Amino acid sequence: MNVHDSEKLCGIMERKGFLETDNPRNADIIIFNTCSIRQKAEQKFYSELGRVKSCKRRHPHVKIAVAGCIAQQEGKNLFRKASHVDLILGPQNLHVLGDWAERGDISVATRDNPFIALQDIPAKRFDTVKAWVTIMYGCNNFCTYCIVPYTRGRERSRPSERILSEVLNLGDQGYKEITLLGQNVNSYRSDIDFPGLLGKLDMIPGIERIRFITSHPRDLSDELIEAMYELPKVCEQIHLPLQSGSDRILKLMNRGYTYKDYLAKVERIRKRIPGISITTDIIAGFPSEKDEDHSRTLKALDQIKFDGIFAFKFSPRPGTKAALMPESQPEIVKSERLTEILDIQDEITERINRSLKGTVQEVLIEGPSKTDIGKVTGRTRTNKIVNISDPTFPHGEIAVVEISCGRKHSLEGIPVRI
Ligand code: 5AD
Ligand code: SF4
Repeated sequence: MNVHDSEKLCGIMERKGFLETDNPRNADIIIFNTCSIRQKAEQKFYSELGRVKSCKRRHPHVKIAVAGCIAQQEGKNLFRKASHVDLILGPQNLHVLGDWAERGDISVATRDNPFIALQDIPAKRFDTVKAWVTIMYGCNNFCTYCIVPYTRGRERSRPSERILSEVLNLGDQGYKEITLLGQNVNSYRSDIDFPGLLGKLDMIPGIERIRFITSHPRDLSDELIEAMYELPKVCEQIHLPLQSGSDRILKLMNRGYTYKDYLAKVERIRKRIPGISITTDIIAGFPSEKDEDHSRTLKALDQIKFDGIFAFKFSPRPGTKAALMPESQPEIVKSERLTEILDIQDEITERINRSLKGTVQEVLIEGPSKTDIGKVTGRTRTNKIVNISDPTFPHGEIAVVEISCGRKHSLEGIPVRI
C-alpha cells in the first residue's frame, strides 16, 4: 500500500510537470513517504530526514514534504522535531501535494477525508507488467496493536465503476497482473461486494492474474472462497494474517477469531482450492505473552504449514491500546521468540518448495534475475519466485516451466516446450 502511495505521489508531481531524480542533491523538492507501523520504520525515516538537512542548508530554496503515516501521527509536532520540513501530508490527503508543490509554502494536511474513495489520483507506476489498484482506504478493525485505523482513517470503498475503468485502462496498456489493495478487502462494499468485484474484474481483457491483499480471517467468507475457485484469473494465493496461535493473545489483540476459527477457514479454503498458497503475519512478544502462548504460535506454524510468513517483534505504537497494556516483554524475549518463529518457518518453507520439484508451473516473467545474468525471474500463480535458466523470455510473458529445484527463498525452473 505504501509503495502504491509513492506511485501516486510521483503521479501527482509528474502531472504538475516535475521531473524525478534519484539524487536528493539535485532535487528542488524532496518527498518522504513514511510508514509508522513499527518503530523500526520510524527510526529509518528520522535518520533519512536528518541527512537531507544539509541539502536545504546548501540550497535554501529546497522544499521538504513528509507524507504518509508518520506525517499523520505527528502532525504539526513534526515542525518542532525537524524545522527543515515544509509540508506534512497525511495518507488521506495526498491529493493536496500538487498545489502545494507549485506554492511551496509551509503547510499541514492531516484532516479526515471522507471523499478519499472518490478522488482518483493518477499513479506513475513503477512496473509495466504488475500494477497495484486501491479498492478501499482505511480500516475499522482497531486491532489493539495497530496504528493504521488512526493514520489511515475509516474504511471507505471506491465505487466499483472507478476500479473497473482503472483496470480496463491497465489491460489496454499491457498490464498482465493486478493486486487489489485494502487493509481488509473482505469488507469492500460499494454497489457490489468483494466477490462481486472480483467477478467483474475477471472479465477484463489483457489482465491475466488477479491478487489481493489483505484479507481479515474473521471476514473471509465462503462466497470469497467460491469466487476464488470459480474465477480463472484469481490466483491460488491468499495472505491471511494470523498474528498469534494463542486465543488469549488473539483476544487481547481484538482480532475477532480464535485459533480454531482460523484453522477451520484454512481447512475450508484448502479443501476448495487444493495447492493454494497461504501466507501470514505473526507478532512475537505481544504484552503479557507467556511461553505457553508463544508455544501455541509455534504449534500453529507446524500445524498449518504456511507457504511463507512475515514475522515482527511487537512494537508499541503511541495511542494504541496495546501500548498501554501491562507486562510488556523485554527486547531479548521478543528477539528470541522471533528467531524461533523464523527458524521453524524457514524449514517449512524450504520443505514446501522442495516438494514442488517436478511440478509444471505458469510463471509470469518479471525481468532478468538480480543475482544471475543468465537467468530471468518471475512468479508462479501462487506467488513463488522462480528463476529460469533461459534469459530470452521477455518481460511480461507467461512461461510454462518444470520446477527442477526448490530452495528456501525461490524455485528453479526449466522451460517446457509445448
Ligand atoms: N508491532 C508489530 N507488528 C505490527 N504489525 C502491525 N502493527 C504492529 C505492531 N505494533 C504487523 C501485523 C500486521 C502487519 C502489517 O504488521 O502483523 O499484519
Ligand atoms: Fe491494523 Fe490490519 Fe488490524 Fe486494520 S485489520 S487494525 S490494518 S492489523
